[in-house]
Amino acid sequence: MNCAYRVAYSRINALVIVGEGLADSHFRLLAGLLPEDRDDLMRLAAMEGRHARDFAGCGRELGIRPDLPLAQRLFAPLHRLFREAVRTGDRLSALVIQCLIVESFAVAAYRCYQPVADAYAAPILQMVLDDEAQHLQYGQRWLAVRFPEVAAPIEACCGRAVPIVLAMLNAVRADLTAIGIDPGELVGEFVGCFQAAIEMVGFEPRQARGLVARLAGQAVAVGV
Ligand SMILES: [Fe+2]
Ligand SMILES: [Fe+2]
Repeated sequence: MNCAYRVAYSRINALVIVGEGLADSHFRLLAGLLPEDRDDLMRLAAMEGRHARDFAGCGRELGIRPDLPLAQRLFAPLHRLFREAVRTGDRLSALVIQCLIVESFAVAAYRCYQPVADAYAAPILQMVLDDEAQHLQYGQRWLAVRFPEVAAPIEACCGRAVPIVLAMLNAVRADLTAIGIDPGELVGEFVGCFQAAIEMVGFEPRQARGLVARLAGQAVAVGV
């Protein structure tokens, strides 16, 4: 394993560990906002905590120390947006950010990592992907029963949060390439997964495509 690979892996592995740790804390905060679903949400939070530990194990297995400060810096804007939603009691935005956007990002990243993963990480990735599908489904169900009233606030929230995710992705383009993931393919996978998620909520395929194209277009305009 060469030095460039190790540096890139330490950043991507950290991003995954920090993302999973934040997902754990986000589901706990959601449990506070949605007391009727508290048990379910605490169960999802515990799954995220286990993912964070399992991915930390993947780095240890390769003898690579994750660059956690960098990952915390990269995740800060999205985490701030989530905390703001919690602070104002905005359940819908908190759910959209974690369950639709972060989970779509996670699924896309793990799917793209699967073909190049080492033998230790491969079974972990498969288990985690199955779990993340459940997290997406939780958010989709909550929003779907409130559709179409939630359509406009979902669009507004996505307008703020999706460009942040795409900017994060852009910040680690070179690292993704160095560990064998094509950044363009990852963006495509995220767009596909996110579009499918909002269609499950109730958006017509045409509307979903339009929303995603607008958001991706904004990202291109700002150089993502
Ligand atoms: Fe997770
Ligand atoms: Fe998740």
